[in-house]
Amino acid sequence: MNDKRHDLPAPLVAVDDPDRLTPLTRVNAGEVVCGVSGSNRTIGVRLISDNDRLLSWYEANWQPASSDEVAATIYAMTGAPADYGVRADHYRLWDARRSAVALFDCDSYAIVKVTVRGVCSAVRSDAELYAHGCAFEVTHRASGEVHGVLLIGSSGAGKTTLVSALMGDPEYRVRIVNDDWGVIDLADATAHFTGERALHMKARSVLSFAPEARGALSTIPTEGSSDPDDPGMRVLIEPATVFGYDSLADDVRLTDLVVLNRAAGDFGVTPDNPLAALETGAYSAYYQRAEPFFNGSLILDSDTARDRERHAFAALLTRVRTSWLWNQGSKDEMIAGFKQDILGAAVKL
Ligand SMILES: Nc1ncnc2c1ncn2[C@@H]1O[C@H](COP(=O)(O)OP(=O)(O)O)[C@@H](O)[C@H]1O
Ligand SMILES: [Mg+2]
Repeated sequence: MNDKRHDLPAPLVAVDDPDRLTPLTRVNAGEVVCGVSGSNRTIGVRLISDNDRLLSWYEANWQPASSDEVAATIYAMTGAPADYGVRADHYRLWDARRSAVALFDCDSYAIVKVTVRGVCSAVRSDAELYAHGCAFEVTHRASGEVHGVLLIGSSGAGKTTLVSALMGDPEYRVRIVNDDWGVIDLADATAHFTGERALHMKARSVLSFAPEARGALSTIPTEGSSDPDDPGMRVLIEPATVFGYDSLADDVRLTDLVVLNRAAGDFGVTPDNPLAALETGAYSAYYQRAEPFFNGSLILDSDTARDRERHAFAALLTRVRTSWLWNQGSKDEMIAGFKQDILGAAVKL
């Protein structure tokens, strides 16, 4: 896919100068504080922007939070750095000291959203991990056997495809915590819902869970495109509309970490060193870039940041069974592989 609309921006450039972002604190802009549910606290993220649409999408996406809870700040500015008196050659800056990101020339809520993800990982406690993946519980109706699954994989690996297929399978009951990203409490390997009031999703992902929502997509605000079949179209939509009330869960105790790979040449065989393989991550054809730890939102600006992520995954690996699943044939082969390898089903391939 060469459509540049899907590309994420260049990585954030770290700024060392403590005063570099100071001019932004004096800019006349709107402010909204929202909260991302963590394992036992809420991470407050403040959005400051001179773009009203970004502020209103932000408010619609997340739960409100109080200023006391602010742990990170995102400046999403429509103009160039110089327009605000900021000296910078780059348009995306990360000030680790203030846990602040400045985005310039920004008119994309998708960029704000990935930045929220990045800052949450940056300010999280060592007892939690923000993972890019689907967290869900799957129960085999006949036997009652339950698996709590964290399905990770780079963007476009087939996570949503797999989970939506399982939801449509009458033999299983599936309850979703998060389709794409959220926190894991490492003490008890429990995945928790982000608390989003409306999910920010690709329209195509919504349709893979809820084909009947196609009509509703034309009545809600969209971004990127207004064609639901365009991979670039994103919407804000209530979780129950996508998954159904009965298929939502606030938390799930994880039993399995499943790493899904679509890109050719990944790992080849079950890796001898799972941690190193996780750290390498995979290439996302969707975003045309590598995603270390299978998470394109991480701000890995230092050895310390990489070490923290490594430690968190090492802790998770001690608590769950890890499996590597390949999605290099048909969708049906991937789904059959999941049922057989992870759920222990007798599947005819
Ligand atoms: N085995 C496959 N064969 C063909 N297309 C696939 C296969 N697996 C996934 N896709 C397609 O790739 C795209 C990305 O898949 P998706 O499940 O949305 O990925 P993710 O949720 O991991 O980002 C979707 O359009 C999906 O239909
Ligand atoms: Mg997905």
